[in-house]
Amino acid sequence: MAFKLAIMGAMPEEIEPLLKRLGEYKTTQYAKNTYYEATYSGIDLVIAYSKIGKVFSTLTATTMIEKFGATKLLFSGVAGAVNPELKVGDLIAASSLSQHDLDITAFGHPYGYVPEGQQFVPTDKDLLLLAHEVAREMELPLKEGIIATGDQFVCTVERKDWIAETFDADALEMEGGSVAVVCDALDIPFFILRAISDAADMDASFSFDEFMVSSAQQSAQFVLKMVEKLGR
Ligand code: ADE
Repeated sequence: MAFKLAIMGAMPEEIEPLLKRLGEYKTTQYAKNTYYEATYSGIDLVIAYSKIGKVFSTLTATTMIEKFGATKLLFSGVAGAVNPELKVGDLIAASSLSQHDLDITAFGHPYGYVPEGQQFVPTDKDLLLLAHEVAREMELPLKEGIIATGDQFVCTVERKDWIAETFDADALEMEGGSVAVVCDALDIPFFILRAISDAADMDASFSFDEFMVSSAQQSAQFVLKMVEKLGR
C-alpha cells in the first residue's frame, strides 16, 4: 500500500495554516465535506476538517482512510487544559485517549468503556518519538498525556475536575477519542496534537474565542514540521 498521510482538524481554522503552506491542492467534495489532496515534502497528503464532535470526526477519519487511502493520520487542533501546568498556547500530544461522555456504568463498567472496546486507546509510539524530536529541534516544550474526548464544550470546573479524576486526563476536546477508535480498528498509526486554547472553566468560551486561531496555528506549524521529517 502506498504511503499517504491524512492531516485532520475539526474546524476550518485548524487546517487553514496547512492549506496556506501547500499553495496548490486538488479538492474533492464527498459526504458533505471537502477533502484536499496535495504533495508536501515528497509525501502525498489528504487534508480535511471534520466539523466539531465525535460523529463528524468519525466520518472524516474513516473517509480519509477508506476512500482516500490514508495509511497514517495526524490530527492538529486546540484543546481545553485539564492539567494546571498547561497554559494557553502549550502543546500536548496524546499518549492515549478516552471518551469522557461514554457511560454504561449502570452495568458495572468503568466510564469510557464498552464491551469489546478499550477505555483508553493508545497512540502510535513512533509518531510520538518523532514529535519529541521535532519539539527538541523547535525548542518547544511538548507535553505527552491523556486526552479525554466528549460531545461537550467543557466550561465548568466541576466537569473538568470530574474528568481529571475519572480519566487522569491532561487535556480535553471533542474529536480525538473517536478518531482514535477509527484508526485503532483500521490499524492506522495515528497521532493527536493539541494546542491549549482555554482552561475548560467558566471563562473557557471567551478564552477559546480569543486564542483559538493562534493556538490552532501553533499546532499546525508543529504538525507540518513532523511531515517534513517524515518526508526525509
Ligand atoms: N476544545 C477546546 N477547548 C475545549 C473545551 N473547553 N471543551 C471541549 N473542547 C474544547
